[in-house]
Amino acid sequence: MNRLQFIRRLGLGAGVFALGSARAESEQAPSGWPPKAEAGSAAFWEAVRSQYVTDDDLIYLNCGGLGPSPRPVLDMLDLSSRILQHRVETGHFYFEEARAVVAGFLGAQPEEICFTRNATEGNSIIAVGLGLRAGDEVIFETHAHPGGSLPWLNRARQIGIVVRTFEPDPASPEGNLERIAALVTPRTRVVQVSHITAPTGLVMPVKQLAEFTRAKGLWLHVDGAQSAGMIPFDLHALGCDSFATSGHKWLGAPRETGVLYIRRERVDEVAPLHVGAYSSGDFDLCGQLVYTQGARRHEYGTRNAASVVALAEAARFQNTIGRERIAEHGRVLADYLLAALQGLPRVKVLTPTRADMRAAMVTFAVEGRTAGAVFGHLMETQRLRCRPVNEAGLEAVRVSLHVFNTLEHCERVASTLARYTRA
Ligand SMILES: Cc1ncc(COP(=O)(O)O)c(C=O)c1O
Repeated sequence: MNRLQFIRRLGLGAGVFALGSARAESEQAPSGWPPKAEAGSAAFWEAVRSQYVTDDDLIYLNCGGLGPSPRPVLDMLDLSSRILQHRVETGHFYFEEARAVVAGFLGAQPEEICFTRNATEGNSIIAVGLGLRAGDEVIFETHAHPGGSLPWLNRARQIGIVVRTFEPDPASPEGNLERIAALVTPRTRVVQVSHITAPTGLVMPVKQLAEFTRAKGLWLHVDGAQSAGMIPFDLHALGCDSFATSGHKWLGAPRETGVLYIRRERVDEVAPLHVGAYSSGDFDLCGQLVYTQGARRHEYGTRNAASVVALAEAARFQNTIGRERIAEHGRVLADYLLAALQGLPRVKVLTPTRADMRAAMVTFAVEGRTAGAVFGHLMETQRLRCRPVNEAGLEAVRVSLHVFNTLEHCERVASTLARYTRA
């Protein structure tokens, strides 16, 4: 009896079917989803916004930290959790459909995709799995999030790799390429960049960098925690060797979801740190251990399959809106906010001004005020939930602009700051 027949005999096929039909029903339900209005119209965006259930008085501007899940994702999480609880099943059989959806979303093949718990786990699998030795060098930016830098710093502490960092250049993509190239030595093994940096929202020139690292025989790992769900991209076209992201930020998937991509040709170069059920294709107790095909070998043991199913639903939700449309919405809002902030005397915008080096995040500092003071003022007086930025010696505040945000929200940030900086 093959696996599919076995699942059918258990009646679990009905569970898979139930997920499909629940999706179809929710699309017909009078919930405003999917939007009946012309794509991109005001009514369309209103329908998108109606799918979010954050507190009425909260203006949420921190998807770079944590993104709220829209209703279809919450419904799918709830439904799949209940089905799996009622049937007392792990739900691992849902993974492959979810993998195909997520792979398509990222421009990858399913065998290149591994479901992780967060971006940090993906970064760590690469940092540990590449088998670096004492003295091997890794380059990354000073603005790397701790989830991107600590996996390497831990390797430095444990086995003596050497970390070399560069200050991101906000002025030009070429500047960043030059700063990286200047750090390469015969001992360099890995270059890592954030696709979009967390402190200031700078978009790194990954495609050009991949051409450089490939020519040099270096591994290029991209920390994409900020990019998946904010901008569209195709991992094969970007050309990096590996890419880690979170589901729980711009994608609006449940907490503790993440994806690690490893380019097919290089999957075998990343040794699994943890293995167990699901990561082995074949093994015996005499020492034979054959890994599961593809990046999924890094998955092991019992997981919350409902959150993986809901992650795929988050990708579908974004596909329904349109990925270019999402990016354009963020760009328009960011342009508006950036221009408004540039007109304020004591406010300094830290996000690159070049349009091709930024997307939907705007970071600014207020002269003479700490990050905490500015953040606190926006939150306490207007319920504007941004994010203080203290990394890399910055005293700044970051505003993340997603599909449920509006020009009115940007206007509110700017006018509150105008009053604040006059005081
Ligand atoms: C660039 C970057 N990398 C990694 C992380 C950590 O993400 P996670 O909590 O999903 O591990 C973040 C979180 O903000 C981030 O911005």
